[in-house]
Amino acid sequence: MKKIMIASQNKGKIIEYEYWLKPLGYTVYSLLDFPIGTIDETGDDFKTNALIKARALSNHLQFTVLADDSGLLVDALNGLPGVHSRRFSESGTDHANNIKLLRVMENIANRHAKFVCVIALLIPNQEPMFFEGTVYGTIHTVIEGNKGFGYDPLFIPEGYHETFGTLNETVKHNISHRKKAFKQCLDYLMTLEHKN
Ligand code: IMP
Repeated sequence: MKKIMIASQNKGKIIEYEYWLKPLGYTVYSLLDFPIGTIDETGDDFKTNALIKARALSNHLQFTVLADDSGLLVDALNGLPGVHSRRFSESGTDHANNIKLLRVMENIANRHAKFVCVIALLIPNQEPMFFEGTVYGTIHTVIEGNKGFGYDPLFIPEGYHETFGTLNETVKHNISHRKKAFKQCLDYLMTLEHKN
């Protein structure tokens, strides 16, 4: 049986990984099955934080751990909220984060932004591997849709006219920053399977 631990308690992320991994025969676990308390994301960049999360879990497990760190980078805000995406507003709820982003961008015409995701993959007895994905888009002027999570109701991916919050979920599953990082990660996992 192929087992993988997603080092996250973010239901939105876990749903996305399950969507990709279950059809490939993986039994998917997450921090929701294995609560180890809060992991302090003390790094200054996505890669460091992804590794911190993966290591926090791999110390307890004998199978593969996948952790991602991700966030929204807004051009006009010099890359903010970036690594602080989850705690951008005081309460840190998705809704409060979206409201704050709309407020700080009220008079800003340049709405260009991107989501970035870095995956850290820790396979027992191997060096960590990293995979990165980006999706470009713009920040909408109103909150639209209730699909996905985080800033999805504000993010209009390039080539579309609706937010990730409104678009059919399969669109996000196929073009997102997480999917792009995951695709590379999967290719790597496949090369290992062929070697064994
Ligand atoms: P973390 O990677 O769990 O530390 O959280 C990153 C934060 O970035 C999330 O809580 C969201 O606010 C935001 N974020 C990351 N990926 C996405 C996404 O796919 N959609 C919407 N927001 C996201």
